[in-house]
Amino acid sequence: MNPTAAAVNPEHENLLELEAKYCSWGDTVHYAKELTMFQRSEGSFLYDDKGTQYLDLQMWYSAANFGYGNVRINSALKRQMDVLPQLACQYLHKEKIILATKLARKMEAIFGEKGRVHFNVGGASAVEDAWKVVRIHTKKIPAFSFMGGYHGRTFGATSLTSSYRYREQYGHFSDKANFIPYPYCFRCPYGKQRETCGMYCVQQFERLFETEYYGVSNKHGVSEFGAFFIEAVQGTGGYIVPPKDYFPGLKKILDAHKILLVDDEIQMGFYRTGKFMALENFGVKPDVVVMGKALTNGMNAISAIWAREELINPTVFPPGSTHSTFSSNTLGTAVALETVNLMEEEDFETRVTQRGAYFLQRLKALQKKYPEMGDVDGLGLALRVEMCQKDGYTPNRALVDAMMNIGLSGTLTTGGKSKGLILDVGGYYKNVFTMAPSLYISEQEVDTAIDLFEEAMQRGIAHTA
Ligand SMILES: Cc1ncc(COP(=O)(O)O)c(C=O)c1O
Repeated sequence: MNPTAAAVNPEHENLLELEAKYCSWGDTVHYAKELTMFQRSEGSFLYDDKGTQYLDLQMWYSAANFGYGNVRINSALKRQMDVLPQLACQYLHKEKIILATKLARKMEAIFGEKGRVHFNVGGASAVEDAWKVVRIHTKKIPAFSFMGGYHGRTFGATSLTSSYRYREQYGHFSDKANFIPYPYCFRCPYGKQRETCGMYCVQQFERLFETEYYGVSNKHGVSEFGAFFIEAVQGTGGYIVPPKDYFPGLKKILDAHKILLVDDEIQMGFYRTGKFMALENFGVKPDVVVMGKALTNGMNAISAIWAREELINPTVFPPGSTHSTFSSNTLGTAVALETVNLMEEEDFETRVTQRGAYFLQRLKALQKKYPEMGDVDGLGLALRVEMCQKDGYTPNRALVDAMMNIGLSGTLTTGGKSKGLILDVGGYYKNVFTMAPSLYISEQEVDTAIDLFEEAMQRGIAHTA
C-alpha cells in the first residue's frame, strides 16, 4: 500500500483493512500489487485520496469515452433525477423511445438495414440477448467466435469467450463456441506474413465447409452453427486491428452458409475507432449489434442490442421474450440519449481520427528508440503497444506488469510533480497495453502521456533487467 496516502489520509489504511475483510476478492481489484483508492475524476484524469493526478489511458475499458465528469451528460442525469428517476420497465417513458429510435435510425444510416433496439443492463446480458435472437431465428445453438475474443462473464457469454480460465472453475451452460483464429498478423496463428499470405486465414475458414468431416456442416453445406460472434477490433485480446479485407471475406462465407454475423461493439463502439461502430471501418453489414459501456459514458449502465427487423420484430420476438428489472432504467436512458445527442452534434469521426493518428505517430516515434515496443498499431483512439524482449517479438509480461504498477504508484516525475498513469493490460500473452484514452484527449495530454509512458518504460526496463 502507498505509505504517503495513509499519512495524508488516515482513513485510507482503515478502509483497506475493511476491504480486505469484507469485500469479495473475486473481481479484478487485486490484480494490481498496489491498491489505489480514487476520490475524484475530471476529463482525462483520476485523482487519488492524496490528490495525485493520474492520466487515464484506459477510461474504464472504454466505458467513459466522453471524459470523466462530462458536464453535458452529467446534467442529463441530474435533470432526470428530479423528474422520473425510477420506473418499472413494463411502462413506457419518452427517453427510452427516442433513444431506441435514434439508435435504430443511425444503424439504418450506416448499415442500410431497418431494425429495432432492445435494452438490457450489462454487456454480457446483452450478448446473451443477441444469442437468444439468433437461436429463435436459426434454431441453431452452436456458434463461432474468435480465439482471443471476449464477450463477458455470464455463463452464456463465457462460452463465447475463448479463454478456458473463465470457465475453468464453473464449466458452462451452453455448447462452447467453435473458436476460429483471429487475424492477428503480428503473431499470425498460421505463421504467415501479411504481405504474402493471400488471406490464408479466410481460406482456412472457408475450407471448414468443404466436407462434412470437418465438423461444421452437413454434406450439403448446411451449417450446424447459427452465428459468428465477432469483435471488429479485438478488445481484451489486445486491440488487434484486422486487415481491411478480412471481414468482407469472412462475411461472404457466412452468407453462403446462412450464418448470422453478431457484431459485439461493447468495447469498440461509439467512436473508439473513429466510426460510430468499429465494423463500419470494414464495409460489412452485421445482422445483430451488441452495445454497452460508453452508451452511458460509464454511468447508469445500459446495454442494448440492435437486430435486423426480420430477426427482432414482435412476431418473432414477442413481449416477454426476455426481461431484466433495470433494463431500460430511466436514469440510464436519459444519460444514453444525451450521449447519443452529443455524438450527433459533434464530429467525433474527424476528432478521433486526427487525434488517434497523432498519438499513433508519437508512439511509433518512441518505438524507434525502444526495441521492447514490439508492435505499435491502432485504429482511431484504440491503440496497442505490444511489449517484448529486446528482440522485439518475444512477449515480455514482466515488463508490462512492472510498468502498469509504476504507473499506478503515482510516482512518475516527468514534468515536476508526482503523477500517475493508468495503463490497461490485455493481449494473448498479457503483454499488450490496450490504450483507450478519452475521445476528448488534447494534443498536449497526448504529449504528457508519451512522456509518462517513456518514464514508466525506462523504470520498468531497469526494474526487470
Ligand atoms: C467486447 C466485449 N463484450 C462484452 C463485454 C462484457 O461486458 P460487461 O462487462 O458489461 O458484462 C466486454 C467487457 O469488457 C467487452 O469488451
